[in-house]
Amino acid sequence: MIEVVKRQAEAIKIDLQQFAVENAEQLEAFRMRFISKKSVVGELFGLMKDVAPESRKEFGMIVNEVKQAADNRFKELIEQLENTKGQTGEMLIDLTLPPVPNELGTIHPLSLVRNRIIEIFERMGFNVSEGPEIEDDWHNFTALNFPENHPAREMQDTFFIEKNPDIALRTHTSSVQVRVMENEKPPIRTLSPGRVYRNEAISARAHCFFHQVEGLYIDENVSFADLKQTLYHFAKELFGPETKVRFRPSFFPFTEPSAEMDISCDIDNPKGCQLCGGSKNICKGTGWVEIGGAGMVDPNVLENSGIDSEKYTGFAFGMGIERITMLKFQIRDLRLFSENDVRFLRQFTSANL
Ligand code: PHE
Repeated sequence: MIEVVKRQAEAIKIDLQQFAVENAEQLEAFRMRFISKKSVVGELFGLMKDVAPESRKEFGMIVNEVKQAADNRFKELIEQLENTKGQTGEMLIDLTLPPVPNELGTIHPLSLVRNRIIEIFERMGFNVSEGPEIEDDWHNFTALNFPENHPAREMQDTFFIEKNPDIALRTHTSSVQVRVMENEKPPIRTLSPGRVYRNEAISARAHCFFHQVEGLYIDENVSFADLKQTLYHFAKELFGPETKVRFRPSFFPFTEPSAEMDISCDIDNPKGCQLCGGSKNICKGTGWVEIGGAGMVDPNVLENSGIDSEKYTGFAFGMGIERITMLKFQIRDLRLFSENDVRFLRQFTSANL
């Protein structure tokens, strides 16, 4: 037996010497093969029990010698690796060098535009309110005058929770206006920006989640003229003083009358309009681009939320933040907003707003 051990020990010593390393992985491979518990040297120690008692002393000397050889070779290889690193210019830690600065991220274009919208309305006395993205039927639909089983609910493809159809991902931030009206007394002037969800196929023009900003103003004698003036002011602030706003009759269960709101695109500008970039493919040659819906809050909605509809009136509007951001920055594909590609994201700053 001791003869076998001797032969194996010699073979290992030759292997040790022939093993060359060029990088840290190979060094680790060496360690696994010759140093670790499960290494060939470790296995050799395991043969002890098969060796006759009188040969054990000799056995001990042989394996300890191999172990020593493996340890020495390991140190040698570490040293070699350090030296070649220096020569090949591979990075060695130089503690005198200044640190590499952490790269700062940029603000997401949707956040930039949302913040700008909030800023404009804050100056008109609006505060900001938020609500949950997982909503119940009451706040997303019923309180907003969507009758049960009414086709109006089909206007917005909804993600329901299978086990409890009373719970859904909110389809619009109008749910927040109900929550505000339930908890506050008029006058109310609030803006609710947030993420909303609709069960739609993802394309350049639609996504299953996007962002809206809803505005709500309730007081005595609030009129449609107030709504128009507020939105005129907003459009001029955000898109420039020449911008015009147009209202087209529309329908929403929670507002009456209701309108869809368009802003003018500078279609006659020979340099190309700021929204379409000269292509006219956003306004489709009409000179108008839709940015949201609006209307006078339906008295039923006020009553549902505990507000006296005899005394108070109000207006509400809702706009898509993606839509406005695409117009402001001439972005042609909605999917870019959620892909987290920094080459896209780092192009935007508030200076362009
Ligand atoms: N909530 C409506 C939507 O998502 C938009 C809207 C808000 C319309 C407020 C009128 C008033 O389509």
